[in-house]
Amino acid sequence: MKTLCKLNPLILELSLVLKNIIKPQILAVISLEQIKEPIRKEMADFEYKFQKSVYTRVALLNRIMTYIVKRKGKQIRPILVFLSAGITGEISEKTFRGASLVELLHTATLIHDDVVDDSFERRGFFSLNALWKNKIAVLVGDYLLARGLLLSVDNQDFDLLGISSTAVKAMSEGELLQLEKTRKLNLQEPEYLDIIRMKTASLIASCCAMGAKSVTDDMTVVERMRQFGEYVGMAFQIKDDLFDYSDGGMGKPSGIDIKEKKLTLPMIFAMNQVSKPEHKKVIKTIEGYDSDKKKFRYLVDFVKNNGGITYAESRMMEYQDQAFAILNSFSPSAYRESMHDLVIYTTKREK
Ligand code: IPE
Ligand code: IPE
Ligand code: MG
Ligand code: MG
Repeated sequence: MKTLCKLNPLILELSLVLKNIIKPQILAVISLEQIKEPIRKEMADFEYKFQKSVYTRVALLNRIMTYIVKRKGKQIRPILVFLSAGITGEISEKTFRGASLVELLHTATLIHDDVVDDSFERRGFFSLNALWKNKIAVLVGDYLLARGLLLSVDNQDFDLLGISSTAVKAMSEGELLQLEKTRKLNLQEPEYLDIIRMKTASLIASCCAMGAKSVTDDMTVVERMRQFGEYVGMAFQIKDDLFDYSDGGMGKPSGIDIKEKKLTLPMIFAMNQVSKPEHKKVIKTIEGYDSDKKKFRYLVDFVKNNGGITYAESRMMEYQDQAFAILNSFSPSAYRESMHDLVIYTTKREK
């Protein structure tokens, strides 16, 4: 390196510039690997159990299952289940079943969501509806949902079943409410918050409640964990909605919300800042938008210039702080530390 730099000072300068660009990013983002440290063994066992829980005798279904388990996501929800259990008691076999249940439900809803959103990319690969068409994607989603429910029934985990079914019901209601409101293009912040509470925060809240319920029967503890998860879930979806205005690289398309005429917080806020004619122009552009790059740029700039991104980020940070306030009321432990980092990861992540 020394001689190389002597030979070419440009290389040295370039490497320093690169180091300075890369370093702050590395420092800012806490890796999921670090976060998983206190539950490393549990997560390894979980993966094995999760894979085992999806196979069947139907050949086509097995081919699709192999495709699904190979393209796993971030596994935030099982991580939440294990950490919540660790914070409130001693991780048990039931915690593992809660983790599998929630990842099965989550995977099912993503498969259905891509059908609903007409989206062809998921986790950096083709979505199921892109490869096997809607019919099969809908059935595979149903199958995963049923496997999740059976896992709980077979083990008589009726408490976990109760918590998760409430979330699944809220998720469907949230997606339907979103579809209903979408058509009118006049969504306001309180309704938006209701939608994301139902479609996303409910399942994340149920992860934390299930983790706690798998290790304690103290319902006030379970409820505190649930409320913590709800705040994390709100921040999580606001971040996801911010991704839609970015340049991609998250393993799923950006601009899909606008394409589907979904108004999310950055756009809702920006639209409320401008005059009637400008407001009308934006609505017209959204109505006619069909993945045209120039129009996307115009909408992204409109949102940015009217403070939509900054506003959504600040709302997200408020939810993060509310989550921290609850988390800090639990006794300190390595699990709590990791959970703290996971909350930060939720708002800082890049995918
Ligand atoms: C995506 O969830 C769906 C939303 C609720 C926004 P994740 O971002 O956790 O998806 P994976 O499992 O990591 O792919
Ligand atoms: C999350 O909303 C939907 C679910 C409840 C599954 P999005 O439609 O924004 O999720 P992504 O962006 O497709 O992952
Ligand atoms: Mg979607
Ligand atoms: Mg999204």
